[in-house]
Amino acid sequence: MDTVLKSKSILERFSLAGKTALVTGGGQGIGRALAHGLADAGADVAVIDIDLGLAEVVAKEIQIRNPKSKTMALQIDVTNPEQVTQMVDQIVDGWGKLTIACNNVGICNWVDSIDMTYADWQKVIRVDLDSVFLCAQAEARHMFKNNYGKIINTASMSGYITNFPQGQAHYNAAKAGVLSLTRSLGTEWAEKGVRVNSLSPGYTKTALVSDLLETELGKKVSPIWLSRIPQQKMADVTDLQGAVNFMASEASDYMTAADIVVDGGYLAW
Ligand SMILES: NC(=O)c1ccc[n+]([C@@H]2O[C@H](COP(=O)([O-])OP(=O)(O)OC[C@H]3O[C@@H](n4cnc5c(N)ncnc54)[C@H](O)[C@@H]3O)[C@@H](O)[C@H]2O)c1
Repeated sequence: MDTVLKSKSILERFSLAGKTALVTGGGQGIGRALAHGLADAGADVAVIDIDLGLAEVVAKEIQIRNPKSKTMALQIDVTNPEQVTQMVDQIVDGWGKLTIACNNVGICNWVDSIDMTYADWQKVIRVDLDSVFLCAQAEARHMFKNNYGKIINTASMSGYITNFPQGQAHYNAAKAGVLSLTRSLGTEWAEKGVRVNSLSPGYTKTALVSDLLETELGKKVSPIWLSRIPQQKMADVTDLQGAVNFMASEASDYMTAADIVVDGGYLAW
């Protein structure tokens, strides 16, 4: 068969109409942009956040911008295994299926490793790495039943490099873990039709970073960061939507256990 002439058009394969998605940490920042991007392409979107107020605002924004998309807002702590199972159950009970899952929650604080408490270390590993495992496992248990699913984990360029000059060894280790976990799950679950990929943003303008940039150290690091980014600017959250919509769509069905870096060129330099 001539697949080039017989297959759906590439724009149709990018459409997410009829798909259902969840985005964890969807209440603000990168997650909010990803939730809107998926809805723009036609998906129904569940906005998941530990802060219900934030999730509800984003769900309402989506209803206004994309009235055809169904939305729900759920208050879930992604580090809690019971709540993570309930998250998937509520979406499947409400919409019948879950096709796309963006496991996007992450936190960071800056502290030199010599001063880092074990509690600091454990908190970041739990929120940034353990939660990705918990969410992916709960999502895949449902997706296996349909022999199809798209899991997209938010990693970071910090999984590849050591950020400088701030200390964030726990975060870098967690994000390297997300990259490795993505490869493991993508490989294990390939024959079940569940694709597992990740997004690695570079420095992106969100509260996570702007809060840190307002500190004494933050004022010093900003010019250092910019001097290391070939495009000489931080990403806007909308710069990340295209890569995620691609990984969520049929257009990327042959892609699994892989990562897309969107960093203005940082890693190449
Ligand atoms: N901003 C950057 O420069 C950057 C760069 C690379 C990767 N990332 C990654 O992108 C992701 C999103 O980052 P962001 O900058 O949008 O962060 P953000 O702090 O702006 O938003 C994170 C959201 O996650 C929610 N959240 C936090 N803990 C939660 C929990 N336990 N359960 C459910 N929700 C929880 C928060 O309420 C918030 O709405 C993170 O994984 C982060 O590590 C960010």
